[in-house]
Amino acid sequence: LNVADFSDFDRQCMTRALELAARGLATTDPNPRVGCVIAREGQIIAEGFHERAGEAHAEVIALRAAGERAAGATFYITQEPCTHFGRTPPCVDAVLAARPARVVIGMIDPNPRERGGGIKRLETAGIETQTGLLAAEARVLNCGFVQRMEQGMPWVRVKLAASLDGRTALANGESQWITGEAARADVQSWRARSSAILTGSATILRDDPQLNARLPDGGAATRQPLRVIADSELRTPVNARALSPPGEALIFTNVPEGEQRRPFEARGVRIESARRAAGGIDLRQLMTRLAQMEMNEVWVEAGAFLSGALLAAGVVDELVIYFAPSILGGAARGMFELPELRSLKERRELEILETRMIGADLRVIARPVRPPASARTS
Ligand SMILES: NC(=O)c1ccc[n+]([C@@H]2O[C@H](COP(=O)([O-])OP(=O)(O)OC[C@H]3O[C@@H](n4cnc5c(N)ncnc54)[C@H](OP(=O)(O)O)[C@@H]3O)[C@@H](O)[C@H]2O)c1
Repeated sequence: LNVADFSDFDRQCMTRALELAARGLATTDPNPRVGCVIAREGQIIAEGFHERAGEAHAEVIALRAAGERAAGATFYITQEPCTHFGRTPPCVDAVLAARPARVVIGMIDPNPRERGGGIKRLETAGIETQTGLLAAEARVLNCGFVQRMEQGMPWVRVKLAASLDGRTALANGESQWITGEAARADVQSWRARSSAILTGSATILRDDPQLNARLPDGGAATRQPLRVIADSELRTPVNARALSPPGEALIFTNVPEGEQRRPFEARGVRIESARRAAGGIDLRQLMTRLAQMEMNEVWVEAGAFLSGALLAAGVVDELVIYFAPSILGGAARGMFELPELRSLKERRELEILETRMIGADLRVIARPVRPPASARTS
């Protein structure tokens, strides 16, 4: 692969292609978000982005807009064009047929059956091809797709709303609402981009949340994330709001197939048998299953039990925590139930990626720092 010195104009074009790609944030699932810009003589002449699985890919849309003028132009594509027949024909054929002078690519397609294949096809055809421009940005935009393709796991974000002293619910369970309206609206946009929303049976029993993606006007978003409940004993009430349309629901349980599952199945709720683990369901296996179901990003809205168990299982990629300007005191529930630590050396270290005010609340995005491989037990 050629790693070239890119010009300022190259950067501008790829930045624009990434902006276009991001327009598919809530709709491309399970596909990646991809954007494309076609330029010639220092001017952008056509743009495109992938909007929905089964519909045209970014390159094809930009090509349609460029028409004849695509010949001899430079293509900027945030991800390597695909070479396989999926829901649509291979994009690399469409790009080749347009006879561009040069193709600049962001990231290599992480899909093992593609990985570098599209680039090779372009190079073999004698087209100047350069890869890696703003590749890190393209991968961040597609963190879930990349992780699913490379590791067979979804990208898992745990959201918590807490008081400034890190409390997520009163001892009696009351927790609605700790944060303000702006934070709750922000949560809606994270839900909308996610493939699935996970919670625990206790939160369902206590709060009966809808867990769907809603638009700013209160209406339901067109694509609903799959609502997933970790519920080893099938304690979820059959009329729980999270099981109702719009969108589908899935329960992971240890209850075997049979009578107890029927009322759920009769309502169209999917039920999967889960492996048992200390504290409930084997969460690593649950995430592996979600990846097999093509879930890219999983958004967790649960209490301290499930949030702590996910952290302990080592499957959390990001924490999104909203701190409200209030104090709930030591008797209230914390954020993560974890086994007692005996030494500060055992603490879980985080890296803070971003802090931002959302209305009157402070949003912190952090990432667990993976322990060095030598310290890992699995
Ligand atoms: N502040 C916030 O952001 C926020 C968000 C959500 C909820 N809440 C509050 O949190 C409270 C509920 O929290 P919670 O901690 O009791 O419940 P939770 O974390 O929502 O759910 C825990 C339940 O999930 C099930 N589960 C299945 N597998 C598990 C595993 N491997 N590890 C842990 N749990 C597993 C268990 O029930 P089974 O034995 O039935 O499987 C467990 O009791 C409520 O008061 C709610 O209002 C706050």
